[in-house]
Amino acid sequence: MKYKSQQVAYWFFALAMLLLALQIVYGFVMGFARVGYDVLHTVAPFNTARAVHTNLLVVWLLTGFMGAAYYIIPEEAEQELVSVKLAYVQLISLALVGVTAIVGYHFNYWEGRKFLEIPRPLDYLVVINVLLFLGLILVTLFKSAKRTTTSLVLTMGLVFAALLYLPGMIWFDNQAVDSFFRWWVVHLWVEGVWELILGGILSFLLIKLTGVDREVIEKWLYVIVGLTFISGILGTGHHYYFIGTGKTWLIIGGIFSALEPLAFLGMVLFAVAMYRKGEKKHPNKIALNWTLGTAIISFIGAGVLGFAHTLPQVNLYTHGTLVTAMHGHLAFWGAYAMIVLAFISYAMPNLTGRKLYDTSRGNYAFWLSNIGMLGMTVAFGVAGVTQVYLERKMGLEFGDVQNEIKVHFVVLIFCAMMFATGITLYILEFLRYGRPVYDAPEAKP
Ligand code: HEM
Ligand code: HEM
Ligand SMILES: [Fe+2]
Repeated sequence: MKYKSQQVAYWFFALAMLLLALQIVYGFVMGFARVGYDVLHTVAPFNTARAVHTNLLVVWLLTGFMGAAYYIIPEEAEQELVSVKLAYVQLISLALVGVTAIVGYHFNYWEGRKFLEIPRPLDYLVVINVLLFLGLILVTLFKSAKRTTTSLVLTMGLVFAALLYLPGMIWFDNQAVDSFFRWWVVHLWVEGVWELILGGILSFLLIKLTGVDREVIEKWLYVIVGLTFISGILGTGHHYYFIGTGKTWLIIGGIFSALEPLAFLGMVLFAVAMYRKGEKKHPNKIALNWTLGTAIISFIGAGVLGFAHTLPQVNLYTHGTLVTAMHGHLAFWGAYAMIVLAFISYAMPNLTGRKLYDTSRGNYAFWLSNIGMLGMTVAFGVAGVTQVYLERKMGLEFGDVQNEIKVHFVVLIFCAMMFATGITLYILEFLRYGRPVYDAPEAKP
């Protein structure tokens, strides 16, 4: 690594790994509950497990983004982070707020708004934490004369993500209005500003791993940012179809959300083109696998499987079913989990000086987790389509339908075990790297 303060990234990655492992545990709790082994019911009933599972997901991804930013910004700005001490304060307070929230969920201290379950009093602590994080990043960036497109897009994504947390903190007495603004957070995050974070990290990784000129890579980045905004903002309409907002949203939401896959398609073309153009000399093959994998799987999970239920004619039937869970898993995995894992794979050799570039454990981690997740997606998909058919076409009762589709959760658990094996190998590899060492030599393409 080039800058001493980049070391702080390591501890964010370590926290992310821990939270990812916990997220998977809660996934299994739900999976087993679905097939009749609801053994942890008293500690973590399905609804609690679900909230914990998805919140841990969001928190470990954000932790990973923050770690990546603490690594990328000093390097792009050619300037040490302004305060390493405060970055550690931020890390520890983030972990404390996270743990408090998760423990609280087990005592039913949470709000029933999917993905935004953190109770509002705790939200204020989240805000303070994020302000500290942004302060450190922004001051570092502005102290330096060097502002690259990559660092600006990444920072813009982080700043907007923080701003968009706020609409979720307003109180509304009306359930429909509350739902309307909930999507400003949930949708505009994953189909808007997080895509900028993704684009920024992807661009940094491609610059480092392919050796293609920065100018070429950053030109693509502009195109992706443009496509994201053109489609994603009004694409929010695909959540406003039947919630009491009026018929115009059927048209706006349908058209603009149908364009959203273009940004993800752009990313695949971008990543693959840069890979082809590059000299393929960088020794860190695993990081390259994860980087290209991110672009490809996010296109399938977000682009293709998102499109599959985004038209109002389809969403009328699929809304809120396991079809949504199918898409949610592969989209979050492909776009945001994989980019964090790609970044960690890239950064660890540079942080520690240990070059575990193309180990069989690392390769198994990549393939098992990806094949496992694809299998889980298929299992959710088959269960979801069956659910839609039986429940919404045939008119069977919800509970009876859930009984009928139990068998698909057996398949899900099987695939999830494969997935979890891959992740276990990834974490073992992470641990094998050990602690960061300053002056560790860096590999070049
Ligand atoms: C990486 C990007 C994406 C992620 C992480 C993601 C994730 C999710 C998640 C978790 C949900 C469930 C939200 C909830 O019910 O609270 C959801 C819903 C939805 N997503 Fe995505 N998504 C992404 C991109 C897309 C794209 C590009 C499209 C369209 C082309 C799309 C179409 C939809 C639709 C229509 C729903 C509503 C499903 C329903 O009515 O139940 N998504 N998405
Ligand atoms: C061992 C692995 C996992 C298992 C067994 C698992 C299982 C589940 C189950 C059973 C649900 C609830 C679905 C329902 O409402 O019935 C769920 C929800 C969810 N999980 Fe997982 N999961 C796992 C890993 C992951 C990973 C790695 C991610 C993200 C990268 C993820 C993202 C989500 C999301 C976004 C939802 C909410 C979906 C929605 O809103 O419809 N899960 N998971
Ligand atoms: Fe959306």
